[in-house]
Amino acid sequence: MIYQNATEIVNDDVFLTLPDFLPGSDVFLKIEGLNPASSIKFKAAVNLVEQAEKAGTLVPGTSRIVESSSGNLGIALSVVCAIKGYPLTIVSDLNTVESAVLAMEALGADVVIVEEPDANGGFLHQRIALVGDMLNADPHLVWLNQYRSRANVEAHRDTTARSIDRELGAIDYLFVGVGTSGTLMGCLEYRRENRLSHQVVAVDSEGSVTFGGRSERRYIPGLGASRLPEIYSDDGSFHKVVVPENESVAQCHHVARTYGLLVGGSTGTVLAGVRRMRDEIPPGSRIVVISPDLGDKYLSTLYSEQWLNQHPTLIKERSSV
Ligand SMILES: Cc1ncc(COP(=O)(O)O)c(C=O)c1O
Repeated sequence: MIYQNATEIVNDDVFLTLPDFLPGSDVFLKIEGLNPASSIKFKAAVNLVEQAEKAGTLVPGTSRIVESSSGNLGIALSVVCAIKGYPLTIVSDLNTVESAVLAMEALGADVVIVEEPDANGGFLHQRIALVGDMLNADPHLVWLNQYRSRANVEAHRDTTARSIDRELGAIDYLFVGVGTSGTLMGCLEYRRENRLSHQVVAVDSEGSVTFGGRSERRYIPGLGASRLPEIYSDDGSFHKVVVPENESVAQCHHVARTYGLLVGGSTGTVLAGVRRMRDEIPPGSRIVVISPDLGDKYLSTLYSEQWLNQHPTLIKERSSV
């Protein structure tokens, strides 16, 4: 297949079965790490830019873009901006892995790292305050704002959720990790509009405020928030599971050694969510788990024994996986 540029490439039809992950049920891991920029966020990045262009808020040749990202949206936007010629600044934080920063810089983006956590241990307030300062100083700077933009939700409604329906037909459970909640909200919208009946289970990290918890220091990028994303709304139509980060890491290692697949940290979290629900899931269920990215970026952190020994709260006894 020949594409004119990378924004046209969407690898939305790759599912890996995980035999015996939940004995008696079929578990399909939806692999998003084979999209351009290596994560689920590419679809959101393309739509954020294209919708802003359609609305006239983003003007080719004049506008510059700023975004707050813990990594994957930053890399994805770096690809889109390289293709379309927009100067880009990404505001990240200390949780962003070095390889993500290097990727953004290699693609031509400026990366600003927030080093001081908020009073509540997260970085999001600080990152957004910095974006606000930059916007005040530059009239040509545009903030696409993945936490507020409908384009983030619609990208997943029209691609991620649709492709699951197209490829797998009827399913019983859909497990989705929650960061900005764009994926979750898009999948819920698709289910509602198409009158589907599967249960959606939203999975977040302990130490995130999205499901009403207290904000605490977290280490796995992508999931969780120290400030409620504007696009998130809880209408009671989905189930919520909160996972401690040591269970996420344990699942990453388990999947690597059992299925030969290096998954990203948030995939470990979502799979730990499935494990936590195992007594409530009837045998014979068809379960889809969205895997937002793969593990290459995390080899020197979540997969490194040395790094884990420096972060002992992330270590869990292997026997309890
Ligand atoms: C690795 C990873 N997992 C999960 C998510 C969460 O996706 P969403 O922002 O759609 O909730 C992200 C978002 O950046 C991510 O990068």
